[in-house]
Amino acid sequence: MQYRQLGRSGLQASVVGLGTWQWCGVWGEPMAQKQATALMDRARELGVNLVDTAECYGDHVSESLLGKALAGQRQDWLVATKFGHVPGSESPEADWQPESVRRQLAASLKALDTDYIDIYQFHSGGDEQLDNEALWEMLHRQREAGVIRCLGVSIGNPGNVRQVLRAAELGADVIQVTWNCLQRKAGEAVLPACREHELGVINRTPLASGFLGGRYAPGARWPENDVRSMRRPEKIDEELDKARTIIGESVPEGQSPAAWALAWCLKNPAITSVIPGSRTLEQLEDSVRAVELLEG
Ligand SMILES: NC(=O)c1ccc[n+]([C@@H]2O[C@H](COP(=O)([O-])OP(=O)(O)OC[C@H]3O[C@@H](n4cnc5c(N)ncnc54)[C@H](OP(=O)(O)O)[C@@H]3O)[C@@H](O)[C@H]2O)c1
Repeated sequence: MQYRQLGRSGLQASVVGLGTWQWCGVWGEPMAQKQATALMDRARELGVNLVDTAECYGDHVSESLLGKALAGQRQDWLVATKFGHVPGSESPEADWQPESVRRQLAASLKALDTDYIDIYQFHSGGDEQLDNEALWEMLHRQREAGVIRCLGVSIGNPGNVRQVLRAAELGADVIQVTWNCLQRKAGEAVLPACREHELGVINRTPLASGFLGGRYAPGARWPENDVRSMRRPEKIDEELDKARTIIGESVPEGQSPAAWALAWCLKNPAITSVIPGSRTLEQLEDSVRAVELLEG
């Protein structure tokens, strides 16, 4: 494994981390505790130390699975979670008011079975919600109290450089953004601004939702309980066709397309860590092989 400093936070994050959106039941069936624990144990053995989750991956479903998997190994991990949505029975309701976020923080701590969060991220809200100074005052008080180690902004739109500049002004150290060789928007302004302001970058969707994993060809479709089923079929086929071309032209014979695609992201000097949603031990081990492709 290799480690990079997460902006000015002082935290050292593994270049390959782990995303947990896949665990909560909107990418097929929810993950069983045994599988989540096995993934975390193996990830730790491989040197992975960054795990990303969120309040609204189910009603704290991913956080709770993660909390149990962290038993006895909490200190080995940088746990990144998010705020801004109150999970409900139907769908999460956005709420960015300081008092609500303080309650959301308490709920995340309980689900994660921990007394601190390493990276607490604004979860893809609008500019108006981000600009709420009272919210950031409350978050900084929690940081001073040791409940939060550093603050981040997960930007919804990879072209939203304004949120990067505001994040730096508001005292956040980390940006989370979509970046992969199919979706390169962040490379135009967001990633250069992160470098300029010394913000760490957590790279989400590094496999373009699995489209760069080499498993799917145009015509692939997913069952209703998989978020990918909500996309327009023409758009799916167009993206899969592009992915096939990139893989065909760039990935050397015998090499893993996923490892290649993750290394592609990590070769941009703005990126601190990629967080692929590896769902199986095989995918996890394959994703970690990206590190071998960074050498030389
Ligand atoms: N707003 C936000 O803050 C936000 C939004 C999105 C995601 N995220 C975070 O980012 C994480 C990752 O992003 P993502 O979920 O959008 O997508 P992603 O990581 O680009 O793709 C995930 C999919 O890639 C496939 N995969 C994983 N490892 C593989 C491997 N080694 N070889 C082949 N295929 C592999 C799996 O597909 P199959 O299921 O087909 O096996 C998996 O479901 C999430 O888990 C979440 O923590 C945050």
